[in-house]
Amino acid sequence: MKIAILGSGGREHALANQIKKSKKTDKIYCIPGNAGTGAIGENININLDDFNGIYNFVNERQIDLVVVGPEKPLVEGISDFLKEKKIKVFGPSKKASQFEGSKTFTKNICKQYGIPTAKFEILKNLEQSIEYLKKVEFPIVIKADGLAAGKGVYICKDMRNASEAVEEIFNGKFGKAEKIVIEEFLEGEEMSFFIISDGKTFKKFNTAQDHKRVGVGDTGKNTGGMGAYTPSGLINQELENKIINKIINPTLKALNDINEEYIGFLYAGLMIKDNEPYLIEYNVRMGDPECQTILPLLKSDFLEIILACCDGKLDEIDIQWSDKKSLCVVLCSKGYPDTYEKNIEISGLDKLNLENDSFIFHAGTTIKNDKTIVNGGRVLNFVSISDNYLTSRNTIIDKIEKLNWSGGFYRSDIGFKIIK
Ligand code: AMP
Ligand code: GLY
Repeated sequence: MKIAILGSGGREHALANQIKKSKKTDKIYCIPGNAGTGAIGENININLDDFNGIYNFVNERQIDLVVVGPEKPLVEGISDFLKEKKIKVFGPSKKASQFEGSKTFTKNICKQYGIPTAKFEILKNLEQSIEYLKKVEFPIVIKADGLAAGKGVYICKDMRNASEAVEEIFNGKFGKAEKIVIEEFLEGEEMSFFIISDGKTFKKFNTAQDHKRVGVGDTGKNTGGMGAYTPSGLINQELENKIINKIINPTLKALNDINEEYIGFLYAGLMIKDNEPYLIEYNVRMGDPECQTILPLLKSDFLEIILACCDGKLDEIDIQWSDKKSLCVVLCSKGYPDTYEKNIEISGLDKLNLENDSFIFHAGTTIKNDKTIVNGGRVLNFVSISDNYLTSRNTIIDKIEKLNWSGGFYRSDIGFKIIK
């Protein structure tokens, strides 16, 4: 089969690496891909906004399946667009992608279906928001409604912070804002819970915890993710049952009620307090770097799982996992998440020894004149599988230190909550 993967991050390199292992895979195209995916398949430089360009390429090369990595094309309707043209796509519809594309959509579903989440109010303009803020207790959380590349969430400790946040959002920092969500601050520990669905049934797709803050000890600015580990240290059978019964099942019922068949990954960002789950947000895709961390533990044929989802036959598949631990550390360009240098070479990657249970997934890299060039803030994802998180972390740090890239930095404390 010929498969096209849309996206250019570490997640997409990990997807390509796992799909490549299937005996059904003949050729992988990555649109647009990175230096890592280019070594697995062929990178094709088409902008992900250019749906017609993507369709023309897929049609011309007679590609059998399109796997969508990031949220933006999903929220903009790439799945509906390609499906109308009889292309097989793994990734939910535009309507279902509102679970990530609109915070107010998700909050309203939570209310209607009794899904545990932070208490909230939807506000439609600046004045209304300020009036509402006079009545709340701080800290409070303020969220832009639409996609904001992980930046539209403000945790506000007082009225001054909160009114600045509301002004920024209504002044259009994240695009035209017609409404915002103001919600209660939840205490607890965060966990990512993944399922995969064919629209009729779903299967668990493991758990993880990521580190979103740039600094050691989870301090400093928010990033796309500095590292992750799987499985989460918080998961247990009782909690899993609660997540499925109180959050996943009502969500799938809501989708059913709006006549939507959800095909793809669904990623529930949860806050866990006293073994009780609360939904913070939904994402309609795999997490990054959770994907890089989780997929190497998958023992079953990943392509067969994806195809079963597209064909409504997920119930016929048994998903098998390794019972080992996996940890990922992201090597970033110095300065990230603010400005950082681009177009600099990163050398020595070919000299790193990668045993069977170690992986390097590329993110912000490209190849120019046979050299690996950095073109993004998060550059490389180092993953190691072992019997415990500490061994994995030590293996990774050893490799990063060997690479000795002077332009980079990483967090040496990934997994600190679970590594005592
Ligand atoms: P989101 O973009 O919705 O994932 O939010 C970004 C981060 O903000 C989350 O990963 C949480 O750490 C934090 N966050 C969002 N909503 C809440 C909340 N209601 N209470 C506490 N923290 C939150
Ligand atoms: N790791 C967080 C995300 O993918 O949104």
